[in-house]
Amino acid sequence: MNVTHNGKSKQYRTVWFDKVRNRVRLIEQRLLPHQFKIVSTANHVETACAITDMVVRGAGAIGATAAYGLAQGAREFRGRGIKTFERHLAKVYRTLADARPTAVDPVNAMRSMLENMNAPTVAERQAQSLALAEQFADNDVHHCQALGQAGEPLIPDGARVLTHCNAGWLAFVDHGSATAPMYAAQAKGKSIHVFCDETRPRSQGAILTAWELAQQGIPHDIIADNAAGHLMQRGEIDLVIVGSDRTLGRTGEVANKIGTYTKAVLAKRHNIPFYVAIPLSTIDWELESGLAIPIEERSQEEVLRAWGVTDNGRRQSVRVANPGSTARNPAFDVTPPELITGIITPAGIFKPRQLWKNRAKLGFTGTA
Ligand code: MRU
Repeated sequence: MNVTHNGKSKQYRTVWFDKVRNRVRLIEQRLLPHQFKIVSTANHVETACAITDMVVRGAGAIGATAAYGLAQGAREFRGRGIKTFERHLAKVYRTLADARPTAVDPVNAMRSMLENMNAPTVAERQAQSLALAEQFADNDVHHCQALGQAGEPLIPDGARVLTHCNAGWLAFVDHGSATAPMYAAQAKGKSIHVFCDETRPRSQGAILTAWELAQQGIPHDIIADNAAGHLMQRGEIDLVIVGSDRTLGRTGEVANKIGTYTKAVLAKRHNIPFYVAIPLSTIDWELESGLAIPIEERSQEEVLRAWGVTDNGRRQSVRVANPGSTARNPAFDVTPPELITGIITPAGIFKPRQLWKNRAKLGFTGTA
């Protein structure tokens, strides 16, 4: 996406690879929108930490980061013999897969890389690893573009769209999932207005989605997480589009940022279409129940405190909650298929329960 920073405009992806220095390069998302900074990770362990600490976040973006991290780990190998290399790679895989548990994109990206790294020598496999990581990142861009085209007709001219968290280009390699149909509608000359849920505790909506939309010149308002029901009741929201961190291909259940389920219940109550936009790497074809999705519980400090910037420009965390109180911080929830109008994918729009029937079109390669 085009980023205007210090008066200069430049195209950026969220994550890319420095082949010469064997480093993963990332936009430091924790500093946005107050500072735009690029960081590098020196090895795959640092890359995993960048995922855990949310320097980079969002399903597709951590998928691509894990893919590059796996290639980085493969290229770190200095030992001898294919078996030792495979053992090393299994450790690298585990470190990156454990960095965050809910999004399935990192696991899907790395598994597919491992299946295709089949050359006879270590050196060839190291080269393959980077080519496959680049391929995952490019596919992510193409999938998001394609789902944008598929979802664009759902947005009428003048539409008021609600979105939750950040499923924009920062959550992918480019374009985003929930935002891709909005960007496609804008490119067609439609005028739209977006309501961004603030998305406590980390405020990805207020911080990241709002920054992205401002960069793209899309009119928007940030709303408190509790305001959506009121706006729906007054007829001020025409449709909802959100992303997903893991969508179950067998059941149509959708894991997404905490608070998504509540918005889906409200949308159903008010007969407002509720869409989920995903690239194919977000589909989990294995799990048979949403209850089996690992839901990340993050530090209670995220709920008890808030980050911001003082009027002097200093980034600071302040305590918001009652001193001595404790908190729970589940980062994701699961929305059942009956609350979802459609799943927007690069292969078209599907009812959530029809994903399994359409699995061949949706990239399923396993056995049923
Ligand atoms: O915790 P995050 O910021 O990594 O969560 C990911 C998200 O931004 C959302 O859940 C998003 O809606 C789906 S990711 C494309």
